[in-house]
Amino acid sequence: MEQDLFRLKEEAVQALQDITAASELEPFRVKYLGRKGGSLTGIMRQLAQVPKEDRPRLGQLANTVKKEVTSLFEQKKEQLSAEKGTEVSAALDVSLPGRRLPRGKLHPVTQVMEEICSIFEGLGFAIAEGPDVETDHYNFEALNIPKHHPARDMHDTFYVSDSILLRTHTSPMQARIMEKHDPPLRYIAPGKVYRCDSDITHTPMFVQVEGFLVDRKVSFADLKGVLTSFLHRMFSDDLSVRFRPSFFPFTEPSAEVDIACVICGGKGCRVCKQTGWIEILGAGLIDPEVMKMVGYDPDEYSGFAFGLGVERIAMLKYGINDIRLYYENDLRFLSQF
Ligand code: FA5
Repeated sequence: MEQDLFRLKEEAVQALQDITAASELEPFRVKYLGRKGGSLTGIMRQLAQVPKEDRPRLGQLANTVKKEVTSLFEQKKEQLSAEKGTEVSAALDVSLPGRRLPRGKLHPVTQVMEEICSIFEGLGFAIAEGPDVETDHYNFEALNIPKHHPARDMHDTFYVSDSILLRTHTSPMQARIMEKHDPPLRYIAPGKVYRCDSDITHTPMFVQVEGFLVDRKVSFADLKGVLTSFLHRMFSDDLSVRFRPSFFPFTEPSAEVDIACVICGGKGCRVCKQTGWIEILGAGLIDPEVMKMVGYDPDEYSGFAFGLGVERIAMLKYGINDIRLYYENDLRFLSQF
C-alpha cells in the first residue's frame, strides 16, 4: 500500500504539471480526489484491510499524500485563473487608437448668424445684445405701437404678464440703444425672438438680426445700398433682390425685402408659395415719432433700420425646404453643416 501511495502521488503530480487549461482541472479532481472512485479515496478505503499495527502509519501517510495533492491542485487552479486574467488583457490591444467622441459643432443657424454679424461688422456696425424677456414698453410703446394698435395683432405675442412679454422682434434694441447713446450710431443686435406661429416658414422661436444707423442726412438710398451689399456678400453678386412697399409703425417709409427663391430658382415652389420670392427682412427709415421718444431731433437726424430672419436666410443658403428641421435636433440633419 505504501508503494501504491508513492506511485499515485508521483502520477498525480505529473498529471497536474501537464494540465494547461482550466477545463482539465475537474477531470483531474474526479480522477484523483473524487469522493466516489477517486484513486486516493480508493486507497484510503483499503486501510481497513491492512494489519492493525500498520494502520496508523499508513493512514497518516495516505492523509499527507491527499493533503499534498489537494494543495498542489489548488495552486494549479489559482495559477490558471491568474493566467486567464492575463489572457483577457492580452485581448485588449493597448496600441490601438482610442474611440473618439464625435465632435460638437455650432448649430447651422448660429453659423449663419455669425456670418451675418461678421459681414455687418465689416461694414462698420457694432454688435449689441438685449433681453429675450422684454417689457411692453420697449417691444411696442417705444416703437410707436400704443395699446390697442392693430399692429399688435400681427405679432402673436407670448405674454408673461400685462406688461412683460417674450420679445416678438429685435426692434426694442433700437429704442434701448438710442436712449443711451447719441448719434451717429451704427448697430446690429442679434437674438432670439418669439411668436405663437408655426409652419414650413415660421417657428415659434426664431432668430433675428436688427440693424440700424442714425446720422445726419441718412436716406432710403443708404438703406438700399447697405442691404443690397450685405445680400450680395451673403449669397452672390448676381442674386435678385426686390424692395416691396410695406408698413411698420416704427418706420416711414417701410419696405419688405425679398430675394429670389434659391430652392426653385424663382420658378415657384411650396417654400416661396409659388411666387418665386422669399421675404427675408423688414426695413425702413426710422419714424420721426420713435426719434422724438428717445430725445433725438428728427429735423437734425434721420436713420434707417431693418430686421432680418436668420432661419430664412439659412434655409436659402443651404437649400432647406422646411424651417422646422432646424429645431427638431436630429443629428443626421445637423451634422451636415
Ligand atoms: C419685424 O419683426 C420688424 N421688427 C422688422 C423691422 C425692423 C422692420 C426694423 C423695420 C425696421 P417681420 O415681422 O416682418 O418684421 O419679421 C422680420 C423677418 O423675420 C421676416 O422677414 C422673416 O424673415 C422673419 N420671420 C418673421 N416671423 C418668423 C417666424 N415665425 N419664423 C421664422 N422667421 C420669421
